[in-house]
Amino acid sequence: MDFACCPYARRVFRYGIAALVAGGVLAAAGLALAQEPAGGPTFTKDVLPILQRSCQQCHRPGSVAPMSLLTYRDVRPWARAIRDRTAQREMPPWFIERNVGVRAFKEDPSLTDAEIATIGAWVEAGAPRGNPADAPPPIELADLDDWRIGTPEWIVELPEEQTVGAVDADRWLNIWADSRLTEDRYIKAVETKPSPGAYPVVHHVATSMLWENEDGEEGGGFLNEYAMGKNGDIFPDGTGRLIRAGTQIRFNMHYSSVGEETRDRTRVGFQFYPPGHVPERVLISRHVGDSFDTLDIRAGEDNARSDGYYVLPEPTQVTGFQPHMHIRGKRMCVEAIRPSGAIETLSCTGHNFGWHIVYNYADHEAPLLPAGTILHVIGWHDNTAANRYNPDPKNWVGFGNRSIDDMSFAWMSFFHMPEDEYERRLEARAQSTND
Ligand code: HEC
Repeated sequence: MDFACCPYARRVFRYGIAALVAGGVLAAAGLALAQEPAGGPTFTKDVLPILQRSCQQCHRPGSVAPMSLLTYRDVRPWARAIRDRTAQREMPPWFIERNVGVRAFKEDPSLTDAEIATIGAWVEAGAPRGNPADAPPPIELADLDDWRIGTPEWIVELPEEQTVGAVDADRWLNIWADSRLTEDRYIKAVETKPSPGAYPVVHHVATSMLWENEDGEEGGGFLNEYAMGKNGDIFPDGTGRLIRAGTQIRFNMHYSSVGEETRDRTRVGFQFYPPGHVPERVLISRHVGDSFDTLDIRAGEDNARSDGYYVLPEPTQVTGFQPHMHIRGKRMCVEAIRPSGAIETLSCTGHNFGWHIVYNYADHEAPLLPAGTILHVIGWHDNTAANRYNPDPKNWVGFGNRSIDDMSFAWMSFFHMPEDEYERRLEARAQSTND
């Protein structure tokens, strides 16, 4: 290059090169630092164990989530998105408020504040891989096609195969199927499963039952929730849920396209108690706190509140709940008002229309409530444009079946028990917390 015209330019050029080289060395040093930080969190030591416990059952090939998070190579491009989604508590999908009510749940994939901070610090430090020798062995992910409740003795399928197009919008469908049961049975275990190969498009399924008795009265209730990573419900010994002859099963399906036409015929599988056997404790699932007349959500309103109540006729152990709201649902709390007047919050949870999660209480913390307790369900709806599912914030919304109408109730699952058993259970609880 000829700098004869202008020595100054030559100097700048030369220093520029030197600076570039120095910068390169520094960058390389930085890279080396990122590979082996002194004491900071690394992928292999700190982040991978979190992903194994809380993410990989969904984020693996052939599953529902958009990308795999099995290896460093898989994870690295998503580091920032992982930090953001975990910090917002959008991932893993689990919206229980952690600072109120019952703390212990079955199959709780949620992250602790410390785990979220670890992920944040790791991304901040450049998402270093760390020492491969620190990595825990890969976890054994169950075969997607395995029934976790064992091979079912009775299977009810969607009446017809559903086709999810390559680029359809998300769809929420209610599809009814005949159980074909000719006698009443008590369910010991139940699990819902998409067809083999359909896992990527079946975002979510909730199944429920509807039957009519001889007097024309309707009954039924919530049956089971399918989400990747949930293992079906195996009820504790001596506990069962009734399904009557002639029951119709409703599959509430949430389908999402994945760029490839996919067919699905989701099934629900059952294990039963022997015919005629009535288990000691019968699990009930029912709507609690419906707000048929009181749901009143003005156009553009946020935090529109509605209340509903249900009185427990007998001593009760609550085993779990699922908020039921539609597109504008935002948050729900369930509290127990004891006959003494004492009020305790059982749970509060955010509501995300994309996920319909059942929260099952760990047995040792499942609320034990005396007869006469009032379950109080409080729902909040967001009818503003900030709710990304909201089709029309300019409309008033009330109670109704269409998903553009709304609802607020909790599916609550519980069993009743005689007074003396209630006393015994209370006693046992007190013992175990004293230990
Ligand atoms: C129950 C299944 C499930 C679990 C568990 C889960 N995910 Fe997801 N994840 C999904 C699905 C499905 C999506 C696609 C979009 C949606 O539904 O939000 C997603 C989306 C994401 C995204 C956004 C991807 C994008 O396209 O921007 C990130 C990041 C993510 N998940 C990270 C995680 C992390 C980290 C964990 C564990 C701490 C986790 N997920 C646990 C199912 C799951």
